[in-house]
Amino acid sequence: MAIEQTLSIIKPDAVAGHHVGQIYARFEQAGLSIVAAKLVQLSTQQVAAFYAEHLGRPFYHPLVTFMQSGPVMVSVLQGEDAIALHRSLLGATNPKDAVAGSIRADFGSGAPQNAAHGSDSAESAAREIAFFFTPTEIHPY
Ligand code: RTP
Ligand code: MG
Repeated sequence: MAIEQTLSIIKPDAVAGHHVGQIYARFEQAGLSIVAAKLVQLSTQQVAAFYAEHLGRPFYHPLVTFMQSGPVMVSVLQGEDAIALHRSLLGATNPKDAVAGSIRADFGSGAPQNAAHGSDSAESAAREIAFFFTPTEIHPY
């Protein structure tokens, strides 16, 4: 295991539901540090670029519409094995399949309304962090 950084997006459903604080508490209680953060209203073009890997999938258009339906809280999380740890805290993509006590089970309501995003690999984390933050906006501690 190694110290890693990963990208978190608290999605429009969870921001509108005032769940940012509870989700951040779970990250910090699990040993992840929030080393960069901002509230962002994504454009359709930004969402399309961010989720370009899903272009052509049946859920692509609902996903793009949902992700720009309100502000999202974007963060860089840092810690031991952060990429896999963050994904385990999120739970399965569909909240109905997510393990009890996971973020998506507790705060998600469906697909695409599943409360939060997490980078799925080191390559994705590097790309996604650079998509939202310059190096000078990230402050490890
Ligand atoms: P994410 O990228 O948001 O962390 O989610 P993920 O890796 O668990 O799932 P992914 O396959 O990358 O899907 C991206 C997002 O698209 C929506 N989705 N809807 N209706 C559906 O079957 C479906 N499948 C995926 C979800 O919002 C998912 O998080
Ligand atoms: Mg994904």
